Amino acid sequence: MDKFIIEGGVRLKGSVEISGSKNAALPILAATLLSDGKSVIKNVPPLRDVYTMLRIMRYLGAKVDMEGDVVTVEPAGYSNHTAPYKLVSTMRASVCVLGPVLAKLKRARVSMPGGCVIGPRPIDLHVKGLRSIGADIKIEHGYIVADAPKLRGARVYLGGNFGSSVLATANLMTAATLAKGKTVIESAACEPEIADLARFLTKMGARIKGYDTPIIEIEGVKSLRGAEHSIIYDRIEAGTFMAAAAITGGDVLIKHANIEHLGAIVDKLQSAGIRITRTKDGLHVKKTRSLKPVDVTTLPYPGFPTDMQAQMMALMSITKGISVIIEKIYPERFMHVSELARMGAQIYLEGPRAIVQGASRLSGAPVMASDLRASAALMLAALVAKGKTDISRIYHIDRGYHIIEDKLEKLGAKIKREKEE
Ligand code: EPZ
Repeated sequence: MDKFIIEGGVRLKGSVEISGSKNAALPILAATLLSDGKSVIKNVPPLRDVYTMLRIMRYLGAKVDMEGDVVTVEPAGYSNHTAPYKLVSTMRASVCVLGPVLAKLKRARVSMPGGCVIGPRPIDLHVKGLRSIGADIKIEHGYIVADAPKLRGARVYLGGNFGSSVLATANLMTAATLAKGKTVIESAACEPEIADLARFLTKMGARIKGYDTPIIEIEGVKSLRGAEHSIIYDRIEAGTFMAAAAITGGDVLIKHANIEHLGAIVDKLQSAGIRITRTKDGLHVKKTRSLKPVDVTTLPYPGFPTDMQAQMMALMSITKGISVIIEKIYPERFMHVSELARMGAQIYLEGPRAIVQGASRLSGAPVMASDLRASAALMLAALVAKGKTDISRIYHIDRGYHIIEDKLEKLGAKIKREKEE
């Protein structure tokens, strides 16, 4: 396994290019399985999670090639409807093959995703949505077993106790494209990644209205064709680099950052005293004054994203004053707290609330990566901490950030990747 060694104290300066969105790429790659036609997907980030999705697609029988950031899928004739535990257990998002495979092959057998360090990952909304359009679904021996000789459109409320569900929306929207009649999804996820998926499905010949809103309408069609599509850029990677510029007191141009997808993050960073200006290439982020503490509550899009909670906590850890961070999407998503505390952060946890008392300075220490975004938070803390930080198990970071050490090094960071002895 690899680790990062980071020497803190450098103000990041220069420009960085954001890659394609992991969370748009995964459901869009899965959606290519709805058709027999060839699809070409561009701006796909070369990440561990993407490679896992490609392995699942090949296992199902599709011909899949990746050259650089372009993926070519030729699914014609694939017939295996089982996504196995050994692959799905390494990436929970694999569950998004359920909708497309079920709609195309009339049956699908996908391993239950299993637990995750950010908390339980239920699938009741995925099951509710697919059952509403006629799928017969059982949970057997750790697998979701779905049969649907005939899918018929329906109206379904897909909201859960934590709000909308991104991948449950993706599963139902993709399956509904081949159902007979109209499907209406109420309390659908409005994330930009869902809108990007809807745009790709539309290019395949699907008839979808209302994506980007909580009510999505899908008029089923008989079949879909392959299509070409370029994935949107990764708003969470953009947000992570914005936080890196802020925490190091830097001055960074973040190319391809799309302010239309970053409203809540821009709002919170500006309230914290960071200057953010829109340029023709993206966003220019500069710390021009001392940081101010801000309170953050994570919510479904367009609210503040849970995938940026840990990064914001790292920033507030060095901001004088008290910040309250409330995690409403994954109430247990605080794996980063104990590791940040090893670096001197003062954070008091009380259920889904974290009270952050900004410390004057963090100090470098050996820490361990866990969840993808918790690991990003440890990197941010290490960039500003006094001295050296070793971050072990950074395969978690490789799942969602493409060559992050090269991107940080280009901005002046003292970071290197080493083999863990
Ligand atoms: C997507 O996961 C993202 N992953 C996650 O990003 C992100 O944290 C999450 O959305 C929330 O924004 C991908 O898009 C690949 P959800 P997803 O279903 O769809 C509850 C990252 O770091 N829920 O929107 O699995 C659930 O427990 C990853 O890139 C149910 O109750 O998340 C959670 O509390 C981590 N029943 C809330 O809904 C269900 O059937 C939102 O989860 C499904 C979900």
